[in-house]
Amino acid sequence: MSAPETPVRLQMRHISKHFGGVRALRDVSVTAHAGEVHALCGENGAGKSTLMKILAGAITEYEGRIVLEGREVGFSGPRAAEDAGIRIIYQELNLVPELTVAANIFLGRERRRGLGLLDDRAMAAEARRLFERLGATIAPRALVGDLRIGDQQMVEIAKALAFDAVIVIMDEPTSALSGAEVARLYRVIADLKRHGTTVLYISHKMNEVFTLADRVTVLRDGQLVASAPRGRSNPRQVIRWMVGREIAELRVEHPATAGTAILQVEGLSLPSPVHSGRPSLHDLSFAVRAGEVLGIAGLLGAGRTELLEALFGASPAPPSGTILLDGQPVLFRSPDQAIAAGVALVTEDRKAFGLFDQMTVAENITIRRLQALTWGHLIDRQAQARAVAESIRRLAIKAASGRTAITSLSGGNQQKCILARWLLIEPKVLLLDEPTRGIDVGAKAEISALIRRLVAQGMAIVMTSSELPELLTVSDRILVLCEGRQTAELSRAEATEESIIHAATQFLDRAARTS
Ligand SMILES: Nc1ncnc2c1ncn2[C@@H]1O[C@H](COP(=O)(O)OP(=O)(O)OP(=O)(O)O)[C@@H](O)[C@H]1O
Ligand SMILES: [Mg+2]
Repeated sequence: MSAPETPVRLQMRHISKHFGGVRALRDVSVTAHAGEVHALCGENGAGKSTLMKILAGAITEYEGRIVLEGREVGFSGPRAAEDAGIRIIYQELNLVPELTVAANIFLGRERRRGLGLLDDRAMAAEARRLFERLGATIAPRALVGDLRIGDQQMVEIAKALAFDAVIVIMDEPTSALSGAEVARLYRVIADLKRHGTTVLYISHKMNEVFTLADRVTVLRDGQLVASAPRGRSNPRQVIRWMVGREIAELRVEHPATAGTAILQVEGLSLPSPVHSGRPSLHDLSFAVRAGEVLGIAGLLGAGRTELLEALFGASPAPPSGTILLDGQPVLFRSPDQAIAAGVALVTEDRKAFGLFDQMTVAENITIRRLQALTWGHLIDRQAQARAVAESIRRLAIKAASGRTAITSLSGGNQQKCILARWLLIEPKVLLLDEPTRGIDVGAKAEISALIRRLVAQGMAIVMTSSELPELLTVSDRILVLCEGRQTAELSRAEATEESIIHAATQFLDRAARTS
């Protein structure tokens, strides 16, 4: 089914938006049809989320008009947009960690019994049905704060599906999902389409866009660059529209001689916090040398994040086994000890662990360096400003200045600030958990190149990425995990998408065969 045959559902006309001096959107017009999956692409900071927040009533001051089903609308807030049938899955998950899964899904629209009492049972049952539809196993009464980020993303999706919608906005919905979860989300999207729902889909992943979308609209620097049916564009073209130039294929040098082993891990195991039976990590042994990138591959739940946390002293329970840093045994009991020894971790969940959202860009970047930048009780503002300017330049962070509030940056640029923070402490070992989550194609290539430059200067890097092509490009070796065990250690010559997937599903296949 192609879109133009179905009626027009939404017109956003001449939308402009300023944040102080920042022009986030300039005269953008977009038309979406019923039953259409409409992809919105653009670099970090291009204005995608802002445009969708306007549609969802989260931003109420803007110029331009919104016409929904032929009628001009102006939403006074998110609630009014919801009443009109518009639901949004936010990029920065918008859940209340202290509430249960079901309470989050029905927040503000609780199911009630007689006398206005909350109908917890009905809400839990409905949440369970939603998760069934999504193929997820999440307990409706679990606290959202206790869930892994991938599951939180599922809750956010369930929340958008809980009520009939005419338009569902998905702002990078798959950034924390595993392959199987993504496949299920695709089926749900196909289902929404069949029912005539319009899906507005923001993604940096070209394969997603070209699998799902009927139409692709591209923004650059707050302006509309192009809007074309899928059949009349291709990934290369869309990237060119996004960045306004060709992106060179990233070619990285992988010198054969890495230095001495900086990090050695022997027999590392970690008990599971929930299932007393199966450990989170089981008997892992590997080494990382100066000047090399060790990639960690595995499906969601394979233990990738747990491994990085164990190396960083951030595990809920202490791991067993030996970790040697520069030949000295270390067992960090806290991240502070790890940082003092020269180990840094960039986490995948920037909202929970990384960002200080009351602070400025400069403060977020330098917070780990404040001690070094402080004389007596005074922060050396000049040195701070230099460090910040250098970081902004090095990582091409799009921010008006260091004094900008971190929350006013686009998602991808916030991620770059966190990376900048850890680079400032000049770690010996840098642990990167999904470092390019939510980062656009151009910036991804920049970050991959930066990673290679860092190891060329003698750093040792351990990184995870659920995007295999990226992991294959950047890594010197790849360690594959499956259910907390190491199922392969592949050299550059051996590592291919097939060999990794084979190793990543080793135990799962066996379990499937014997059951
Ligand atoms: N609340 C705000 N205050 C000030 N500036 C803002 C605010 N929200 C967004 N901006 C600015 O508007 C521009 C567009 O941001 P937006 O979040 O829409 O980008 P995006 O296309 O969604 O990027 P990403 O891919 O990184 O998520 C950016 O320059 C951003 O810094
Ligand atoms: Mg965004």
